[in-house]
Amino acid sequence: MTHSISGQTRVCGVIGDPVEHSLSPVMHNAAFQALDLDYVYVAFHVHRANLAAAISGMRALGLRGLNATIPHKVGVLPLLDAVDPLARQIGAVNTIVNDEGRLTGHNTDAAGFLQALVQNKFSPENKNVVIIGAGGAARAVTLALAGRGAHLIVLNRTPQTAADLVTRVKQAFADSQAIGLEMSDENLRAAVGDADLIVNTTSVGMRPEVGLSAVPARLIEPHHTVFDIVYSPVQTRLLRDAGLSGARTISGLDMLVWQGAVAFELWTGQKAPVEIMSRALREALGEK
Ligand code: ATR
Repeated sequence: MTHSISGQTRVCGVIGDPVEHSLSPVMHNAAFQALDLDYVYVAFHVHRANLAAAISGMRALGLRGLNATIPHKVGVLPLLDAVDPLARQIGAVNTIVNDEGRLTGHNTDAAGFLQALVQNKFSPENKNVVIIGAGGAARAVTLALAGRGAHLIVLNRTPQTAADLVTRVKQAFADSQAIGLEMSDENLRAAVGDADLIVNTTSVGMRPEVGLSAVPARLIEPHHTVFDIVYSPVQTRLLRDAGLSGARTISGLDMLVWQGAVAFELWTGQKAPVEIMSRALREALGEK
């Protein structure tokens, strides 16, 4: 049943620039309807210069929750009343909860990544993980894994960025095992050979460049689990190669769904209908 909008409807949304292609409205509204909750989720196009005004507006209008996407995930931190410890370590917030005017920031990209691993029965404790890329998405993934005691190798085209990310990991988790290296053929071969989990956090393989993969197929073996955070297409070249090599695969769609599910639970206090959210996303992506 679809709730009609009334004086009691609670409003959630996403702020970003650009924001019109966000899949979050489709996913969250499907979830609200499935649970018959009197909530609605909308997209707000917010320029960087208007971020502080938008957060004041969230307080003034009593919006229940917001997602922050590019370019606001970092800039929003000092505008909040509290920030969850993992989000602070990552240095980025993607979900804000408004409890009667008190705004708390969370990073459900990190939580969603871990939930996607749990769903796929991969426990990261003491596992060797290779992370390809060292940008914003890699930061959430790497800190989430470091917090769970994984042993990390970060490989990046620009080695200094990988080294900087590892420094951040060690500041957050002093006894963590992490190294950052250039993404050369040799480093990739050596790191992947010893890995349990390989995570691509770069945009390599994203539509329209669907023929590309960050990891050569010949390096992937049946004992690997391969996680590609790209979700468009759902079956990337990397995941297809991994599947053909007998490796286990986890799609970026799972991370997208779970980051949404964690946000949904923070805003509504209800268990998220993850299957319905996943189906709504697949339909929106044209992949049923
Ligand atoms: P996001 O927030 O999505 O992680 P980002 O912060 O711009 O985006 O980071 C993109 C990451 O993908 C970086 O690690 C980038 O490598 P550089 O630091 O060398 O720029 C990596 N990346 C993007 N395109 C790539 C490509 N074609 N080959 C290898 N790495 C790539």
